[in-house]
Amino acid sequence: MMDTTKIFLADTEIPRQWYNIQADMPVPLQPPLHPATGKPIGPEDLSRVFPMNLIEQEVSTERWIDIPEEVLEKLLTWRPTPLQRAYALEKYLGTPARIYFKNEALSPAGSHKPNTAVAQAYYNKAFGIKKLCTETGAGQWGSALSLGCSMFGLECKVFMVRVSYDQKPYRRLMMKTWGANCVPSPSQETTFGRKVLAEDPECPGSLGIAISEAIEEAVSSDNARYSLGSVLNHVLLHQTIIGLEAEKQLKMLGEYPDVVIGCVGGGSNFAGISFPYIRDKIHGKEVQVVAVEPTACPTITRGPFAYDFGDTAATTPLLPMFTLGHDFLPRPIHAGGLRYHGVAPLVSQLVVSKLIEPRAYNQLQTYEAGIIFARTEGIISAPETNHAIAAVIEEARKAKEDGEPRTILFNLSGHGLLDLTGYESYLEGQLIDYALPEEDIKKAVKILEDYPKPVTT
Ligand SMILES: Cc1ncc(COP(=O)(O)O)c(C=O)c1O
Repeated sequence: MMDTTKIFLADTEIPRQWYNIQADMPVPLQPPLHPATGKPIGPEDLSRVFPMNLIEQEVSTERWIDIPEEVLEKLLTWRPTPLQRAYALEKYLGTPARIYFKNEALSPAGSHKPNTAVAQAYYNKAFGIKKLCTETGAGQWGSALSLGCSMFGLECKVFMVRVSYDQKPYRRLMMKTWGANCVPSPSQETTFGRKVLAEDPECPGSLGIAISEAIEEAVSSDNARYSLGSVLNHVLLHQTIIGLEAEKQLKMLGEYPDVVIGCVGGGSNFAGISFPYIRDKIHGKEVQVVAVEPTACPTITRGPFAYDFGDTAATTPLLPMFTLGHDFLPRPIHAGGLRYHGVAPLVSQLVVSKLIEPRAYNQLQTYEAGIIFARTEGIISAPETNHAIAAVIEEARKAKEDGEPRTILFNLSGHGLLDLTGYESYLEGQLIDYALPEEDIKKAVKILEDYPKPVTT
């Protein structure tokens, strides 16, 4: 018989507070700036876009924030998620490392995204909001928010990038099944969408256009607000339940990780698994924390730390973050959720403070890792998650070379059952790597030259 393969927590053991790393940062977060004045924005500046209870969370420096009972009740539908030991992967690699993962693929939408979708739907409902608007690329976030809204009886409108809407019908159908109104973007439903379509009726859409449409629709009604699935402080906060559960589960085994690994798009699932451990690191504990991104969109490994807009249409405040410039268009890699020009200000500041080690992998290497994982552990992971798995495999092989029984923890942020076209391309030998030429980076970040600069210590 093997040792324990899965560690479960009872419903009563679910964490009852989120962890806010803003209370422990060695260098505090620098404020978002108003693009017109260059001055820090205040809560009121955001009040047409987000409800005030979430804005308060966004700026809070309280270390622990209570999870409302109503949110816990919904999270308990699938949480606590199991912590699993990847015995078959360890055996395949012949590594002395012990590999553990949090299985966030078990949420109803198939990823970590519902952890914040449920919380955001609750806070909007509590604030008297009737409808949430958002954008989605391949549909992970749109489907998660549709689920959250259906749980709290809110209307949900999702602007889905046209090319994905046409090519990936299944997440769109999940959204409709949960009662959301999902439309292809650009659409005829907003001034901005009509303008884009008038110029190019065949426009395939982009996240930037979809964000602009979602914000326009949200601010056009007093009862509606906009919702974002990553990047912002409150979104990262809601995801910390992942790492807090993992902490309890590893303790039950008498384990503490040597390495914590997550993939990074906007930064939310990575923050979720790692922030409780970064708190320990700030307080002197030795733990390596690795953030993994694609070489095709190397924001934290090669971008500058700068003030930039969060969206392509330049409608948000200026945020201090690693960025490739807000009009940078990443190549069409299959990990759609990692194709974002920036990364969360909280993650960025912690990289600057050298508490996080950024790493980039190319597409082929990540699919190779995904295939190894599927053929050992049986789980077909999301293309985004495969970036984390590539790093896990590298660390496990290093442990083998060094003859060290290291403990590796990673976040399995989602399954890839609705993303099989990427696997198909890989298996048929059609997948290609994209490494970004230095020239392209220089060109893309030129736009940042005249913006205010954050302090880089
Ligand atoms: C499965 C999965 N993992 C990771 C990500 C990256 O997002 P984030 O960095 O906010 O966790 C996404 C985004 O859509 C996703 O769907």
